[in-house]
Amino acid sequence: MQYRLPLITLAAITLVTASPVVTKRDITDIEILNYALTLEHLEDKFYREGLANYTQADFVAAGFADPFYANLKEISYDETTHVGFLTKALGDAAVKECTYSFPSTDPKSFVALASVLEGVGTTAGSILTVEARHNAYIRAAKAQAPFPSPFDAPLTFNEVYTLAAGFIVSCPSTNGALPFKAFPGITLVTTGPLAAGTEIVLQTPGYVLQGADGSSNLYAAFIMVTGGVFAEAIGIDGGFKVVIPEGVNGQVYVVLTGCSEGPITDDNVGAGPAILEITNPYPTVV
Ligand SMILES: *[C@@H]1O[C@H](CO)[C@@H](O)[C@H](O)[C@H]1NC(C)=O
Repeated sequence: MQYRLPLITLAAITLVTASPVVTKRDITDIEILNYALTLEHLEDKFYREGLANYTQADFVAAGFADPFYANLKEISYDETTHVGFLTKALGDAAVKECTYSFPSTDPKSFVALASVLEGVGTTAGSILTVEARHNAYIRAAKAQAPFPSPFDAPLTFNEVYTLAAGFIVSCPSTNGALPFKAFPGITLVTTGPLAAGTEIVLQTPGYVLQGADGSSNLYAAFIMVTGGVFAEAIGIDGGFKVVIPEGVNGQVYVVLTGCSEGPITDDNVGAGPAILEITNPYPTVV
């Protein structure tokens, strides 16, 4: 088994540092709750901004069903309630809302982004089930399968944090550092439908990722509950090209790693995840 840690060569890497520290130690309940609250703040602000930006008529004009706007309000109310619940539970220790940047410019791109954020979900059990229903509803509104695969991909705290960090501009200095870190981000630049066999380009914006021995012997791991499905990542200018392997479908997370097999953990992720929507002609049995 190839188990080489990728080395990140920093060219001009600008990572959002909402919480930069990573040390191997036990993570406290307060940190877990603040982590969940960090994600809830992000979702809460996203829906409130979207509802302020676009009207019911805007959503109908963009092709969403009439009750969609009312249901978005319901989702927004849920997120605000989750924030209130966690904030109350944490008291003085609760992290505050950050400043965010959401790349959404119209109802369609707003719903596309909602699908990404809801796919990230949270870690707290009774919140998770509600977030899962939000996710299915938003996917259905986009005419995507509401439950595209028999298992949800398990992401680590750092992987989820990486996805969230992409939208965080800055946080209040009073927010304590969380024991999680964001990996360098990867950007999918390929547009159009994706399926097994499609060659995609993943960019590593502002940095170069290479194998520890200087070669660029890296792999893209498509994260599944049953483990990673691996494909070779061929280095190109500014990133990698990868052919989507058989056996992955739906909303899929891909990371770059030095491993060609075995479990994907925070110790061997080099960059990512990025989120891909893969639609194979027939449901893939995993
Ligand atoms: C709402 O509109 C503002 C101003 O155009 C924009 O910066 C922001 O990203 C939008 N937010 C969402 C969630 O659409």
